[in-house]
Amino acid sequence: MQKNPYQLPFRPRRLRANEALRAMVRDTHLRVEQLIQPIFVKTGSNKKDAIASMPGIYQFTLDKLAEEITELQKVGIQQVILFGIPAYKDDEGSASWQDDGIVQQAINVIKEIVPEMTVIADCCFCEYTSHGHCGVIGEHNGIKDVDNDKTLVLLAKQAVSLAKAGADIIAPSGAIDGMVLAIREALDELGFQQLPIMSYTAKYASHFYGPFRDAADGAPQFGDRKTYQADFANSHLALREAALDIEEGADFLMVKPAMPYLDIIYKLKQHYPEMPMVAYQVSGEYAMIKAAAQNGWLDETKVMLEALIAIKRAGADVIITYFAKDVAISLGQ
Ligand code: PBG
Repeated sequence: MQKNPYQLPFRPRRLRANEALRAMVRDTHLRVEQLIQPIFVKTGSNKKDAIASMPGIYQFTLDKLAEEITELQKVGIQQVILFGIPAYKDDEGSASWQDDGIVQQAINVIKEIVPEMTVIADCCFCEYTSHGHCGVIGEHNGIKDVDNDKTLVLLAKQAVSLAKAGADIIAPSGAIDGMVLAIREALDELGFQQLPIMSYTAKYASHFYGPFRDAADGAPQFGDRKTYQADFANSHLALREAALDIEEGADFLMVKPAMPYLDIIYKLKQHYPEMPMVAYQVSGEYAMIKAAAQNGWLDETKVMLEALIAIKRAGADVIITYFAKDVAISLGQ
């Protein structure tokens, strides 16, 4: 045998020689039980409308939702997050707290078909307000903006309504100061002490939400969301937001978007390892992968899995992703 001319102290390639070895030493795993599928529901019947900028994602009427939930259960998806496109919009977003609101009804439908499905209800106003902002509008010195504390009152109302409808987790996404505390207090008062809150902790004013705003019909009709969602050029502030959420009683922290914000996921997980960390791979991230794949420029399945592993590697425990069903199918094979 030829003598090795190099006395290397360690050879990383030794454990990369074949798939069995690679699998044995892998430290990051995608698990279907940690993926959450977002679902858009709307009023009407017999409709499953495609969203042009999000191939493979639909707006479902309640009858069609039933079919989708059955399919999700078959492939092993255990949790969904609901977004509603309501029958009407007004200044306050009052359609969001009606007993027969679209999300309230959707929760019922899901619980009837698959009672063990964890139903997360997004709790926000942008889909329900005529102006498309995530709260009620006030005016100060001639400038219109979301009135923080008036919005808190309405958020509590919406959360209670979703809880009464049977939601398993409330997920406030409006980036309104004090939203976790306001919701926690309202839930506790009515006996929902056991209902967890998944707070969109570090939610950035991102341009990656574009396709979602088509899907949920929730684009702001004037201005933007920069006075409530975080400035994406800020990193350290995420720690403060997380500290506040924890103090206010959040059960999960979330970073959104995910892949362009891996540093934030990493930072929060390092700082608060005890908090379940959720990452939201948003509509724009999904659309980019889909578009490149449709052009034949990227291998969709491989890039999907790599992107999600990267998000977990950074420190996410749970991922909200439009790919959840596809991942479940591809891991199940
Ligand atoms: C509502 C909300 C948004 C998203 C989730 N909840 C839109 C926004 O903040 O404008 C975006 C999700 C996505 O892009 O996939 N506040």
